[in-house]
Amino acid sequence: MNIVVTNVKGGVGKTTTTMYLAAAAASRGREAVLVIDADRQASSAEWFDAMPLDEVELVEAPSERTVTRAMGRHGGIAVVDTPPGDERIVRAAIAAADAVVIPTRAGGVETSRVVATLEMIPSATPFGVVVCAARLGTNDLTETIQMWTAEKVPIWGVIPERVAIAAGPESRLSREGLEAYHAVLRRALRRRSA
Ligand SMILES: Nc1ncnc2c1ncn2[C@@H]1O[C@H](COP(=O)(O)OP(=O)(O)O)[C@@H](O)[C@H]1O
Ligand SMILES: [Mg+2]
Repeated sequence: MNIVVTNVKGGVGKTTTTMYLAAAAASRGREAVLVIDADRQASSAEWFDAMPLDEVELVEAPSERTVTRAMGRHGGIAVVDTPPGDERIVRAAIAAADAVVIPTRAGGVETSRVVATLEMIPSATPFGVVVCAARLGTNDLTETIQMWTAEKVPIWGVIPERVAIAAGPESRLSREGLEAYHAVLRRALRRRSA
């Protein structure tokens, strides 16, 4: 099972989402969990060096060839972090994905980047957006949710903006963040083919 976390835009929450989804998957204790870092910036790998996740392995695979290989070579759940700028790596990862998670932010300007990402996903591959660092109760968030709903784009999660999540590897993963990402993971895994 390969879950690819991607958005052509940077700074939306891809790496944070990757690490939380991997931790959530590992806490199920059912299958081996691998993070595949396909971003040359290696933010997931750096996070992992600073704060390894229990029962999670990490492999760096910052090229089309290495990411495709890594995704084909494990028997558990892999969560794949992708670079913002390198469309070829993103396309290679999406081509091998069993589910695609698209982190985004609330606000109209984010829409076109999500649409550009959606256009890369094969029609049979399940996908959902995750609204990251969401300010609960704001009009921006309400409008974003309404807009994706109207476009029939599934919303797999709304992750609240929290200092503990923004802390990244400087502190342990936040319980609230883990709970929110568990729900995202359940939605991604539900689409798993038999
Ligand atoms: N739920 C959240 N609450 C607060 N800050 C968040 C949240 N999710 C992500 N962030 C912050 O947003 C910034 C971008 O997130 P990151 O995961 O690095 O995005 P990307 O990998 O897409 O560049 C980081 O500073 C991160 O800590
Ligand atoms: Mg990143």
